[in-house]
Amino acid sequence: MEFPRIVGHRGAAALAPENTLAGFRKAAEAGAKMVELDAKLSADGIVICHHDNVLGRTNNGEGPVAEQSFAALRALDAGGWFGPDFAGERIPTLAEALELIAELGMGVNVEIKPCPGRERETAAATVKIVQENWKSDAPFQFSSFKPAALEVALAEASDLSRGYLTDDFKEGWLEDAARLKSVSVNGNFRRYTKERIDAVHAVGMKALAYTVNEPADAARLLADGMDILVTDCPDKLLAL
Ligand code: G3P
Ligand code: MG
Repeated sequence: MEFPRIVGHRGAAALAPENTLAGFRKAAEAGAKMVELDAKLSADGIVICHHDNVLGRTNNGEGPVAEQSFAALRALDAGGWFGPDFAGERIPTLAEALELIAELGMGVNVEIKPCPGRERETAAATVKIVQENWKSDAPFQFSSFKPAALEVALAEASDLSRGYLTDDFKEGWLEDAARLKSVSVNGNFRRYTKERIDAVHAVGMKALAYTVNEPADAARLLADGMDILVTDCPDKLLAL
């Protein structure tokens, strides 16, 4: 399936609180055709949208996410930190996020983002929620920095696309991406050289770069052949 060139990062992280329903709406308003989000587990096994392993940066909680029940996470304010307009925004479940994103007509990249030690458990629960809730024809991908999570996705839902996330392109990255039957290598744009883009294309995969917020970086990457840019500011990059 064709992925759009511009993907909103954690919704549209520069425009609205990340990984919230308000953020996914804002991405759609900005014209994004696909968003990325981060999926992890509450203590009681509910798949939620949240990036960090600890609470506090994007809400008024504290301590490890993995130790909090869903009810406790749901009571947090996940929007007020970003701005008063978003006060009272809640941490969404993955199921809620998928429903809204489909309604908005966007595709989604579900990054499986396990708390330490919960890689397979998080992947299995995330795959199950996607299988039960994602009925849209819009583009879909699982991605993860954790090969164990992608192994579970491949075993449980081989029909759904996988993206191999890498920050540092460490030795064996392309072989590992191929072993996991990834359709793309999703790399840190600062280390995604033209040689790496060419190597990805040579094995029939797409090249996706995160997190590209400056038009000059976007232009350089596209000139080098980058296929997909993940950005906090879809409005800015779509205007190019
Ligand atoms: O999926 C691209 C990007 O989201 C990976 O990094 O830390 O923002 O989840 P991070
Ligand atoms: Mg992410």
